[in-house]
Amino acid sequence: MTILKSKIKKTIEEMGPISLAEFMKIALTDTKNGYYRKKMPLGSKGDFITSPDISQIFGEIIGIWILDLWIKLNKPKDLQIVDLGGGRGTLLSDVQRVLKNKIQNYIIIDINNELIKLQKQAVENVLHFENLRDIPRKPTIFIGNEFLDTFPVNQFILTESCLKEVCINLDNEELIFCHQRTNLSKSLSDKKSPELKVNDIFEINFESRKFIKKISNFIKENDGGAIFFDYGYTVNKGDTLQAIKKNKFVNPLDDPGNVDITSHVDFTDITNQAKKNMVNVWGPDTQSFFLEKMGARERLNSLESVSDDRAKEELRLGLNRLTNNDQMGELFKVFAITSDKFPSPEGFTCVTRSTYRVE
Ligand SMILES: C[S@@+](CC[C@H](N)C(=O)[O-])C[C@H]1O[C@@H](n2cnc3c(N)ncnc32)[C@H](O)[C@@H]1O
Repeated sequence: MTILKSKIKKTIEEMGPISLAEFMKIALTDTKNGYYRKKMPLGSKGDFITSPDISQIFGEIIGIWILDLWIKLNKPKDLQIVDLGGGRGTLLSDVQRVLKNKIQNYIIIDINNELIKLQKQAVENVLHFENLRDIPRKPTIFIGNEFLDTFPVNQFILTESCLKEVCINLDNEELIFCHQRTNLSKSLSDKKSPELKVNDIFEINFESRKFIKKISNFIKENDGGAIFFDYGYTVNKGDTLQAIKKNKFVNPLDDPGNVDITSHVDFTDITNQAKKNMVNVWGPDTQSFFLEKMGARERLNSLESVSDDRAKEELRLGLNRLTNNDQMGELFKVFAITSDKFPSPEGFTCVTRSTYRVE
């Protein structure tokens, strides 16, 4: 049994069942043995691969998106770019190539020492921080690709008797799911959707709500914007919890600390949260729409014109994987937020201005 599994079992023995979010928090970010602290999650030796490592066009398009804002802002010298969860550094290094020497300030917020080493090799003059509260207070553009899905999620289920929370308990020394009438489930009982049927599950990601509030406050105080890409939905999909090891789905309770446990991002909830925090909200749109609108095909053509046949094929397959609707094009979505003084970004179908309030 892993050290982390023993730690979780001990906690349950002492305190009783823990919520799914508490379980995920320990499994992913425990300071010594959490998945994101000790494992190399990404790449050929890791558990999954992300868009920047599938195609250089992904990061380059984000670079162009930022370049457009920088030009509209009259080319400020002090704008900083912050990558939230920098992965292998590929994304920020592709962004940096597009922006060349126009923007000088690059920051990555991350907690994984193995990845931080790679990020330092990939990105020139990058500063590292573990927490948003520590970065310099100045106009900032944040990038978050597959970052929001790392936050622990709470799940609730409507049982025959009442609304309960999905928790983790022990059965014969093994971790199992159970349903508990927690304070949180009691407090949500009156707010649940009238369409919810017995055995239906819904998810709330309180941690991402808190994070979006922090980012919104940061850009309102210092000016700026943020763009987020992730897999997720706009209409409740029920239970979206998943665990991945070596590119395969596994049981989320089997091997905490050694598997990536995530849930899909609820884009309606998260953009409503941003609207409540009175920033301008762009999208959500599909990844495919955004990349095509921002000129990903044109970039592909230009790269192909200087590539041999093998490289051409790889470039085409990479972009297709990011944009085809049966691959990442539809499931992955993107939205942006901006402060009032910030210009309108490209690539989105609609904006909700900060004066609009969600009840
Ligand atoms: C799914 S990976 C995405 C990496 C990168 N954005 C990309 O597109 O390749 C999640 C990243 O977030 C980092 N991370 C996870 N939890 C974090 C936390 N609580 N604070 C800061 N970074 C975190 C991980 O170490 C990893 O670099």
